Amino acid sequence: MSKTNAELSDVYKRLLRYALPYWGVFIIGIIAMAASAAVEAGLMLLLKPLTDETFVAHNENVTRWMPWAFIAIFIARGAAGFGAEFSLGWIGRGVIKSLRHDVFKKFLVLPARFFDNHSSGPLLSKITYNVEMVAESATNVVTVVIRDLLTIVFALGVMLYNSVRLSMLVAVVVPLIALSVRVLSRTFRRYSSRIQDSVGEVTQVTEEVIQGSRVVKVFGGQEYELQRFSEANEKNAKQNLKLVGSKALGVAVTQILFAFAIAAVVYVAGKESVSSNVTPGTFVSFLGAMILLLQPLRRLTNINATLQRGIAAADSLFKILDEPAEKNSGTICKDRVAGNVEFKNVRFAYGENKGAVIDDFSLKVDQGKTVAIVGRSGSGKSTLVSLLPRFYDVESGVIELDGVAVQDYELASLRGNISLVSQDVVLFNDTIANNLAYGRLGSCSRAEILRAAEAAYVLDFVRDLPEGMETIVGDRGVLLSGGQRQRIAIGRALLKDAPVLILDEATSALDTESERRIQQALNELMQNRTTLVIAHRLSTVEKADRIIVMDGGRIVESGTHSELLARGGLYASLYQMQFSDEAV
Ligand SMILES: Nc1ncnc2c1ncn2[C@@H]1O[C@H](COP(=O)(O)OP(=O)(O)O)[C@@H](O)[C@H]1O
Ligand SMILES: [Mg+2]
Repeated sequence: MSKTNAELSDVYKRLLRYALPYWGVFIIGIIAMAASAAVEAGLMLLLKPLTDETFVAHNENVTRWMPWAFIAIFIARGAAGFGAEFSLGWIGRGVIKSLRHDVFKKFLVLPARFFDNHSSGPLLSKITYNVEMVAESATNVVTVVIRDLLTIVFALGVMLYNSVRLSMLVAVVVPLIALSVRVLSRTFRRYSSRIQDSVGEVTQVTEEVIQGSRVVKVFGGQEYELQRFSEANEKNAKQNLKLVGSKALGVAVTQILFAFAIAAVVYVAGKESVSSNVTPGTFVSFLGAMILLLQPLRRLTNINATLQRGIAAADSLFKILDEPAEKNSGTICKDRVAGNVEFKNVRFAYGENKGAVIDDFSLKVDQGKTVAIVGRSGSGKSTLVSLLPRFYDVESGVIELDGVAVQDYELASLRGNISLVSQDVVLFNDTIANNLAYGRLGSCSRAEILRAAEAAYVLDFVRDLPEGMETIVGDRGVLLSGGQRQRIAIGRALLKDAPVLILDEATSALDTESERRIQQALNELMQNRTTLVIAHRLSTVEKADRIIVMDGGRIVESGTHSELLARGGLYASLYQMQFSDEAV
């Protein structure tokens, strides 16, 4: 999967846009790098008088200033090195920060479908590992291109100044080195992108094991997980090793080629030293400059590896940034809708080649009314209610809120009118109070939070906690019981006070006793709100204005509790089944 030049330059341009705000710092960096290169070459220049004047001619004058010159040069070297490193580090961290910011922002607006189709491990490793990779490689590339190239130019200058003849000898090897670089570099990018993939796999497996640690323990999954992890880990190590190997090979080849050049120089200079004007100082200075060439040349041969790694990383990030966000082309904003909900011939499937999960579904719910949705698991209940806040868009048909298609609302406005308590409660690793006020932090008072906590029976268990409402709930609320989590979720919905309410098995984690008590809170919550309630315990939906029974994404029965019982259909048999269950 190699990229065309146009695509590559696109990647560069986008990266450059991230670095552009730091152009001032960049100029300082360039000056520091140039100074650093000049100082290095100056040091080699100094070797000539050091040898010729101090050691051969015993010139006292030179002997006196020579030590000071070294001190000055090394101070300059340190200062320039610091300036170069710090300014590039500054830019690098800045680029990392804004790249992370953009990717994170994208995660906030990507559609539900994106997260259905992507595992979290690789996504996490993008925002952690790949972002670092981009900045690291960009910084390296810039350093090499500017500082090392200048060092090479200056070193060549010193060599030419010392002896043009000897310089010619060295010139022969340079094209050979360039050739070896080209041959080796092709493999670099391939390894780099594989390494990034394998980091994603490592993260994925680790994340699953951390989250599912109890399942792993009780089902004895250690062997299996270790196996999976080892594979990803092994792959990562292998690809890294290949990269390191080809890098090291590049270094070795450069050095060997260079050895021939040095040998030739030593041979010619030695032979001609009697007859020519090559003084010891000239030779030492020339050799010094030549050795100075080696490091930057070596880094230059590796620059492609670094560059390719950066491109692979940047490319994967830009792919995420280019993912289409949730469609939000609606313009209608309503602070508070009345809450008339209508599904008209709605059809929905999770994928183009997958069967319809919701099929020709029509339902009208007047404002303030409660409709209960029941049906076997997998019949499409959760899918149906997720279409209302537009987690997914319908394939055909229309869903209207107050007579306006949900697509025509501005997304935030639409969702602002809908409250949701879902099957799996999501709590954030924060205090109970902040979890209750989630999304409305700062805009609701302590008293309001307490009132919601009271109504949702959150206070019942909070009273026994030493830190009360300030108790931290742990990742996803692991420090609470399932029922406690659901009560917080119900409190959160109470606090949001939206005209449309969706309860998707909101009380499934509660025991019958707590459910009965919380039902009180829910009844209050449902007052004057349009409510779609999905309940697995049919006893809790008896009082709904209407009950619809779903099967295979369609409505198969509809009516009040007593009507449906009298009909003796699917509802009656589901009810009968539960009734006998509970009687046992
Ligand atoms: N995110 C998803 N991607 C693909 N298929 C899904 C997804 N969520 C649910 N399904 C499928 O859609 C069908 C209906 O699921 P769901 O609406 O959750 O049913 P219910 O809530 O009635 O138990 C099931 O067959 C399920 O496998
Ligand atoms: Mg469900």
